[in-house]
Amino acid sequence: MAEDVFVSPKKKGKIAVFISGRGSNFQAIHDVILAGKINAEIALVFSNKEDAPGLQIAKERNLETLFLDPKAYPTREDHEKAVTAELRKRDVDLVILAGYMRILSPSFCEELKHCLMNIHPALLPSFPGLHVQKKALEWGVKYSGATVHFVTADVDMGPIILQAVVPVLQDDTEETLSEKILKEEHKIYPEAVKLYFEGRIEVRGRRAFIK
Ligand code: GRF
Repeated sequence: MAEDVFVSPKKKGKIAVFISGRGSNFQAIHDVILAGKINAEIALVFSNKEDAPGLQIAKERNLETLFLDPKAYPTREDHEKAVTAELRKRDVDLVILAGYMRILSPSFCEELKHCLMNIHPALLPSFPGLHVQKKALEWGVKYSGATVHFVTADVDMGPIILQAVVPVLQDDTEETLSEKILKEEHKIYPEAVKLYFEGRIEVRGRRAFIK
């Protein structure tokens, strides 16, 4: 059977960023776009939380924002259908999850296959899910880090695009470790988006190659 191959598009891209909280990764990506280093624009900053601090920052940066309350829809799929319609209206090429704290349905992930990225504050496949710095400290790993990956229905398990490593020191706490990892997140997430619209990410099976 022929292998499933995807090559990211080389074009001026339109991005939607999904956030639920402070939005520091969204800001890091936007800063690199403003510096002219990513061939893309942010067409929408979307949230499932009306009071997400990142939404306010997006407004201050004159970006289009949208909040759709999941509670206003009978099912997860109905909420996602409304979100998808908003993405289509704006011809979005790539959705970036940046602290978006809502599980996406398998059908949404399948529809946006290879057009949906996430960042996770650990070296996947170690420590998927929540409270990952706590898990890393409890396990006693000597290194942790951050992972940018494509999103698939299998939560936190899609093809890995980039990773960055940080040492875990004996006196690290959840806070100090999170802080170190976040600094790396702010480097590798913009880098992954840059590579995407340079047409330099190729996915074969579950492996992503940088060309
Ligand atoms: C980051 O640690 C990211 O890895 C995780 O959620 C956090 C979001 O932080 N997915 P921010 O909202 O981008 O500041």
